Amino acid sequence: MRHAVTKAVIPTAGLGTRFLPATKALPKEMLPVVDKPAIQYVVEEAVRAGLPDVLFVTGRNKNALENHFDRATELEAILHNKGDKQKLARVAESTDLANVHYVRQGDPKGLGHAVLRSKAHVGGDSFAVLLGDDIIDGRDHLLERMLEVHDVRQSCVVALMEVDPAQAHLYGIATVEATEEDDVVRVRGLVEKPEPGTAPSNLAIVGRYVLTPAIYPVLEQTPPGRGGEIQLTDALLTMAQDDRQGGLHGVVFRGRRYDTGDRLDYIKANVQLAVEREDLGPGLRDWLKEFVAGFDS
Ligand code: UTP
Repeated sequence: MRHAVTKAVIPTAGLGTRFLPATKALPKEMLPVVDKPAIQYVVEEAVRAGLPDVLFVTGRNKNALENHFDRATELEAILHNKGDKQKLARVAESTDLANVHYVRQGDPKGLGHAVLRSKAHVGGDSFAVLLGDDIIDGRDHLLERMLEVHDVRQSCVVALMEVDPAQAHLYGIATVEATEEDDVVRVRGLVEKPEPGTAPSNLAIVGRYVLTPAIYPVLEQTPPGRGGEIQLTDALLTMAQDDRQGGLHGVVFRGRRYDTGDRLDYIKANVQLAVEREDLGPGLRDWLKEFVAGFDS
């Protein structure tokens, strides 16, 4: 299905403090999941959904990211001379993936502020925002579905997933109303990282958004919120309450998501994705069984 959205914005300017010291000199989005930086899975997802124009909002340490999506001529020449076509293909995979652009955030004043930095590039079009913290399995089509819902409803759309109530304080949590479509809800309220035990539901925003350009003036007016940061969630709440802008819809995702945002979940994501791989899966599965059996003795 054709739709007008062609641009993806990928914020990578967060400090990544939960992963220190690994993120001292490396954006957390460049941490490998199995053998690919998390960010490459996310760019592949954007391209698969028909968004070949990718804007990274970068912070300090952007060199690693730029180099990853650029040619690596010396490495390519060495592999070429060795005749190692397989590794050469692995190196080239990320080079021609998308048309990548970069904008600096300056001070990391929050996700809302990072998204605002995309305004000059995006202009008057709707666009998608993808966070590197969440990897969506390539076999599930969350972003495609969100673009469809945006097309039909002409509103901002967020991705929602049911989470364990004990984990709700780690997410933006939505209050919703059903629509005539089973996987689409109207979002009426949003709260960023509610205090434990106070979440209004267990539907959490996960890191995919399709936004109309009407979000920009709202972000410009959004004061710093939780943690002194300009929160995208606060701007989305304004959109949810404004029917003239089409309100805010949520696509309830029931597919496979791998959370790479915190250390324990990051380790789990590596295991989950490696177990599925043809080259690594069989060996890892055998080893895991033995390793886990050892816990009982
Ligand atoms: P997080 O809330 O996970 O923050 O950001 P963080 O700084 O990256 O990580 P911790 O909590 O210190 O470990 C969610 C997404 O928003 C981006 C991050 O890069 C991440 O993709 N972000 C956040 C920005 O681009 N700029 C910001 O000012 C804040």
